[in-house]
Amino acid sequence: MRGRILFVTLLATAGICAMPAAQASEALLKKYNCTACHAIDKKLVGPSYKDVAKKYKGQKDAADMLAQKIKKGGKGVWGPVPMPPNPAVSDADLKKMVSFILAL
Ligand code: HEC
Repeated sequence: MRGRILFVTLLATAGICAMPAAQASEALLKKYNCTACHAIDKKLVGPSYKDVAKKYKGQKDAADMLAQKIKKGGKGVWGPVPMPPNPAVSDADLKKMVSFILAL
């Protein structure tokens, strides 16, 4: 039984490491529960990531600004509903998720 759990864990870990960057970023969005409020191409509680990409297209400081917003929370840009802060997300993960979103 133990051996089997270990084997499955190893397989899962290998799978995550072998993921291409985009898939890994999508996994991060799930891991941090961003998917509870955001979807790639439809509005949920927050804007769709495609709309976010469209809005900030061509703005070169958008990535840093959005990373800060995700970490500290934000409101007033997309409507009356605020996004709560996500302080547990590391800067490296923030960067990956923001580049993924902006590239959509
Ligand atoms: C409880 C719901 C909720 C969760 C969880 C959430 N968001 Fe949001 N998010 C929102 C709302 C609502 C807005 C719109 C805020 C506004 O109008 O300024 C938003 C806005 C955004 C924006 C655009 C910000 C801007 O100023 O244009 C990005 C990018 C974003 N979220 C990414 C994320 C990521 C990445 C995560 C996970 C770490 C996440 N969100 C988790 C609700 C959420």
